[in-house]
Amino acid sequence: MPISSNNTSNESPNSEISIADQFPVNQQCFYLNHAAVAPWPRCTSDAVQKFAEENCQTGAQGYLTWLKKEQQLRTKLAKLVGSQHQECVALVKNTSEALSFVAYGLDWQAGDIIVISDDEFPSNRIVWESLAQKFGVIIQQVHINTENPEVEILEAINSSTLKPKLISVSAVQYASGIKLDLAKLGKACKEHNVLFCVDAIQAVGAMEFKCDEWHIDFAMADGHKWMLGPEGLGFFFVKQQHIKKLNLYQYGWHMIKGAGDFSIKDWQPADTAQRFECGSPNMLAGYALEASTDLLLTVGLNNVADAIEDNYAYLQLQLQALGAQILSPLKRHQRAGIITFKFEGIDSGWLYQQLMNNDVVCANRGGGVRFSPHFHTTKECMEGAINVLKSLLASRQ
Ligand SMILES: Cc1ncc(COP(=O)(O)O)c(C=O)c1O
Repeated sequence: MPISSNNTSNESPNSEISIADQFPVNQQCFYLNHAAVAPWPRCTSDAVQKFAEENCQTGAQGYLTWLKKEQQLRTKLAKLVGSQHQECVALVKNTSEALSFVAYGLDWQAGDIIVISDDEFPSNRIVWESLAQKFGVIIQQVHINTENPEVEILEAINSSTLKPKLISVSAVQYASGIKLDLAKLGKACKEHNVLFCVDAIQAVGAMEFKCDEWHIDFAMADGHKWMLGPEGLGFFFVKQQHIKKLNLYQYGWHMIKGAGDFSIKDWQPADTAQRFECGSPNMLAGYALEASTDLLLTVGLNNVADAIEDNYAYLQLQLQALGAQILSPLKRHQRAGIITFKFEGIDSGWLYQQLMNNDVVCANRGGGVRFSPHFHTTKECMEGAINVLKSLLASRQ
């Protein structure tokens, strides 16, 4: 059964779960800001409260159960990113940390070329620019346009003169919301022996993602956006063949083969992506993210993506009826959960502030106001936001 956000009694395919009950946020405000920081589902809040109480009552007596939960989280993250290889997934503190693992894990020569887009989130630019300062690598920025978003990236990959060593792009652009065809890019990268690094934070949890099938070498995301988890815990996917090739620069008890056996003197880094996890895991956030990802997988990523698309289409129509210029893609296959818009003659910064003052939780990005509904977002929530917008526009006339 598809999830319809236009139905307040939303129910997941597993009819035991009431989506409406899972997201009390929709009764409190008009929450259209999953591309920034998402609200937690009820199950996540419950998991954290239960874990807190357990810590209070019995400390870490049940640590072995905690470790099982951590493994369950890894399994779920591997599913979410579309990989058969759980051992390729490390738990990290955020997207930026994982990008740094790639940037500082690879060997660079002066003149090596890295291709990024000209509108990447700072984390996916600054880390590469830091390499330029240190090692003399060259950062080539290409433009992503709504007409044909991949064209300049493909030109760079295919170019016989440029020969980039790595491209690093966001699966979905944080400001414009443009979704890239990762299958096409991954195929081209594979053919031309270019490393393919994907900042997946605006995509994983909002759609099906396929690290294995799309030939992605590295992917990363923090859990606090479309995965509906807390800030400060995310994943780092590293294709099997690169795990041992990346240089390490964080060390500790947890990243070695046989971690937990403190008597090991002749240690080796783990053969798996656990070698990128130097010390104690963030168990509290792990409990939270496990609950959130469990919900997403129970609903089904195809259902999640369909519901987000319905919400996008609804918002697009309503916004256009009010005279908005949509800055995000209008073609279905190029968009995910981000719809950015502006009105001629109206300062978007002002509009954003007024919307926030009236309980429409959104963002000011990419030269406009950014709405980002998730699958659970109700029609009432979107209608409410549109009504606030209408009265703000009317107050200006
Ligand atoms: C594309 C993109 N990458 C990364 C981040 C955040 O990075 P981190 O998880 O390191 O805080 C954001 C946050 O808005 C983002 O939109």
